[in-house]
Amino acid sequence: MPETPEQTWTIKQLLDWTTDFFSKSTMGNARLEAEVLLAEALACQRIELYTRFDEQPDPQRLTEFRAWVKRRAAGEPVAYLAGHREFYSLRFHVDPNVLIPRPETEHLVVAAVEFAKSLKCDPIRIIDVGTGSGCIAVTLATLIVNCKIAATDISQPALEIAKGNAAHHEVESKIHFFTGDLLQALPQGSSPVHLIVSNPPYIGKLELSTVDDQVKNHEPDIALFSGDHGTEIIERLINEAAQLLLPGGALMFETSPIIMDRCVALVENNQAYCDVRVIKDYSDLDRIVVATRNNN
Ligand SMILES: C[S@@+](CC[C@H](N)C(=O)[O-])C[C@H]1O[C@@H](n2cnc3c(N)ncnc32)[C@H](O)[C@@H]1O
Repeated sequence: MPETPEQTWTIKQLLDWTTDFFSKSTMGNARLEAEVLLAEALACQRIELYTRFDEQPDPQRLTEFRAWVKRRAAGEPVAYLAGHREFYSLRFHVDPNVLIPRPETEHLVVAAVEFAKSLKCDPIRIIDVGTGSGCIAVTLATLIVNCKIAATDISQPALEIAKGNAAHHEVESKIHFFTGDLLQALPQGSSPVHLIVSNPPYIGKLELSTVDDQVKNHEPDIALFSGDHGTEIIERLINEAAQLLLPGGALMFETSPIIMDRCVALVENNQAYCDVRVIKDYSDLDRIVVATRNNN
């Protein structure tokens, strides 16, 4: 947006100019991104922008907005600039230490809640492996009344963000956080659980050239990549989860359609599991693997 001293900008003009600019310079939803950043700069809700179209923001807020628009055009994700992203209609604080929650992960939450409803136990014990922002664990804690969740992550900065999100949504008493590698992060002798959920890293380093620049330049490598082929962490997760699931318990994890066949084969070839099925995402792509822990 031109910075000529004599030019004044109304909220409507700022939105229109920025939408046009983003539609030429970024890959996202230009209007939505302009609204999110302007609402954040003005410390108001997006909807309020529409009732304040003729207002002229004060210069300090305009300067902040301008800086964000430049950074967005240079590739920084809007969620990191604004400091939050909505997941399952809840607001999650995010920063570059955590993956930005994705809509496809909501399918994992839906499947987990359905499974929890089918159980007659109290409390329902759940583990979320690689919790990141805590979007899965926190959402489940808000939706399942009688649950106790253990959330793990290898990244301590990520766990701090997840703890903050749990507190923000007032479910911190239902979630315990543990730093460390997959399920080894849990204390020795932890009780077996009814459900293990995970959105683990699943991009293979060999696929690096196919990954969007905005993702690979800004989101944490540790949240994205898993060995050369993307299956390394998932394979370990499948094996470790078998040790901690109760008979009849469920393992549910997100993965990429590209490696779905290999992930399904890994679960099917493990004698500990049965009833393996795949759930599609909003784009009709295979996205979530669900398996039941055998009775033996
Ligand atoms: C794809 S992100 C998912 C984050 C969040 N659950 C979500 O759905 O947005 C994967 C997360 O797993 C964590 N992670 C990576 N390797 C791990 C490991 N070996 N053990 C535990 N967590 C790990 C990363 O730090 C990251 O937070």
